[in-house]
Amino acid sequence: MDTKQLYDDYLITSMVAGFEPITVAKAAGCNVTADDGKQYLDCFSGIAVVNAGHNHPRVVAAAKEQIDRWVHCCTYVYYNPRAGELAKLLAEITPGKLQKSFFCNSGAEAIEGALRLAKQFTKRHELICLTQSFHGRTWGTLSITGNRGRKKGGGPYAPGIAFAPAPYCYRCPFKTTYPGCGVACAEFLDHVLKYQTCGSVAAFVAEPVMGEGGIIVPPPEYYKIAVDLVRKDGGVFVTDEVQCGWGRTGKLFAIEHYGVEPEIMATAKGIADGFPLGAFIARADVAGAFTPGDHLSTFGGNPVSCAASIANIGVMREEKLPERSAERGAQLMARFAATKEKCRLLGEVRGKGMMIGLELVKDANKTPAVDEAKQVKAFCREHGVLVGTGGQFGQVVRVQPPLIMTADEADRAADVIEQALLKVGAAL
Ligand SMILES: Cc1ncc(COP(=O)(O)O)c(C=O)c1O
Repeated sequence: MDTKQLYDDYLITSMVAGFEPITVAKAAGCNVTADDGKQYLDCFSGIAVVNAGHNHPRVVAAAKEQIDRWVHCCTYVYYNPRAGELAKLLAEITPGKLQKSFFCNSGAEAIEGALRLAKQFTKRHELICLTQSFHGRTWGTLSITGNRGRKKGGGPYAPGIAFAPAPYCYRCPFKTTYPGCGVACAEFLDHVLKYQTCGSVAAFVAEPVMGEGGIIVPPPEYYKIAVDLVRKDGGVFVTDEVQCGWGRTGKLFAIEHYGVEPEIMATAKGIADGFPLGAFIARADVAGAFTPGDHLSTFGGNPVSCAASIANIGVMREEKLPERSAERGAQLMARFAATKEKCRLLGEVRGKGMMIGLELVKDANKTPAVDEAKQVKAFCREHGVLVGTGGQFGQVVRVQPPLIMTADEADRAADVIEQALLKVGAAL
């Protein structure tokens, strides 16, 4: 039976209506081969996961070696040497004083655990998050997600959650312009704390560069101002690096662009180059708020995923993936900036490293070009390039290739994306 038919009949599908996905036969590096033999240049990395490329040989070899030894080890009863080794590595490479890790299976689970820890540490219970944000699909993570399209059908959501306006300069919630605005969105945290909470904020949780919201890059001062306000009020900062971490933005972790040290970091996706693993990492004093047994995950810290992650971190360091992300990202951004000059569909080109968003608009009023974004994605697919879409309405084309992409591959991808933008834009 063909795979599409099996999906139609037996899967609760996440496929977006009107877009035909490819059926994958195999993948390596930036290339994906479909079951009909057609090759695609992957500019989405399985939603920003395979940062070291599909099936990096070193990561695959480490996982295979671990499979031959033993596969499962729950988080108590046994010690898992791979989990210990990985946690030590995370303490070395994550910013500031982050030291103690908890391993789980996904980004949503990492955020849930991070928030529970923040509440136990501060002995407070409220949360501040951002409009346009996305943090996962569990009830708790949907509760802190600031996008009604993602939340539909799941309410009522958790109480004690306040939303601050996203630092989204292209569609500024205050209708002003950076830097003349004085970073009003960050200063507004003071208002949120005073008027939307009962004075018991445990944490401010945010993605340093917002992914599903449409690759939103806050101004450089944003996090210093916002986090300072939250800390003065007694809360901590949880950085959601699930999508923007692991070299994606040109630094190993995106919060490093902002010079702020988080109390807790949540991560997943690129941590093991495609093997399922999530983690939250906290300062030792913060982590100490959990007494042994408070938190547990049956599959969390799976030895095979941990072995893959250790190898992946080795690749990140030795192949200088964050630096390559910065360099290749600059090349792609320059190409798209040139396209913008001749394409009025392209309202804004923004991003950091290989986390790039192309916001499509129908007119000078910035009407979101939602159908056009779908058409661009479909044209790219037809012409052998896989891109994603995002943003509140799906109006942003997302370009998030593996960080190992060569200059030649980046040019080929940019050629196709430009053709798509010009062709779809010409029909406006
Ligand atoms: C920023 C962010 N946080 C959390 C999540 C949830 O991760 P997962 O799908 O692994 O649960 C995602 C997923 O896209 C994400 O982009």
